[in-house]
Amino acid sequence: MANLRFSRSQFLCSVQFLILLQSNVFCYEYKVGDLHAWGKPSSANPLIYSYWSKYPQFTVGDSLFFLYPPSQDSVIQVTEQAFNECNLKDPILYMDDGNSLFNISSPGRFYFTSGVPGHCETSQKLQISVLFTNGSALPPSYAPTALPDTSPSYPTTFGSIPAVSSSLSLQSISSTILAAVLGVTILMIIN
Ligand SMILES: *[C@@H]1O[C@H](CO)[C@@H](O)[C@H](O)[C@H]1NC(C)=O
Ligand SMILES: *[C@@H]1O[C@H](CO)[C@@H](O)[C@H](O)[C@H]1NC(C)=O
Repeated sequence: MANLRFSRSQFLCSVQFLILLQSNVFCYEYKVGDLHAWGKPSSANPLIYSYWSKYPQFTVGDSLFFLYPPSQDSVIQVTEQAFNECNLKDPILYMDDGNSLFNISSPGRFYFTSGVPGHCETSQKLQISVLFTNGSALPPSYAPTALPDTSPSYPTTFGSIPAVSSSLSLQSISSTILAAVLGVTILMIIN
């Protein structure tokens, strides 16, 4: 009997392990900026999107989640030149539903800003670099503007990091719950 219980918990453990493993292998959905909404950066933290995009290691299959009130904002994917010039004309992709998911389907660089005139100029813009599957990135085609690695505002700016890890651990927690539910279900089936 004791043996049976042992092997059951071992079994549950491996189910849980497999699910946790999968949640690490599976793709991430990144909430852009880790803010409550995609919008004009506050004057206290104007480079929030530039700092935020340096942190995650984006890979093909991940997605970027832009959340905002659709009446107030939008997301456009633009070319590098349009990004630098804040040119909102002829975007590559235009999204304004307030729950915009950009699915990263290839390596390279991607440039986004708001489709609302004036917002790009306040640095509501995001550029990300997605690694090739061999792990190499595209060489930077121009120096990122005004991004000192050791800025005095570093700690405040990176106040967003705990939010990232908490959202990641939330994923682990939910897969643990999933594993537990699955485990109970399996136990019920076994019994
Ligand atoms: C990304 O994928 C989601 C879910 O598959 C889909 O709803 C969404 O429209 C996609 N986004 C784009 C820009 O195609
Ligand atoms: C990785 O793949 C890309 C695209 O196929 C290629 O341009 C690059 O040279 C590769 N890098 C290495 C280190 O193999």
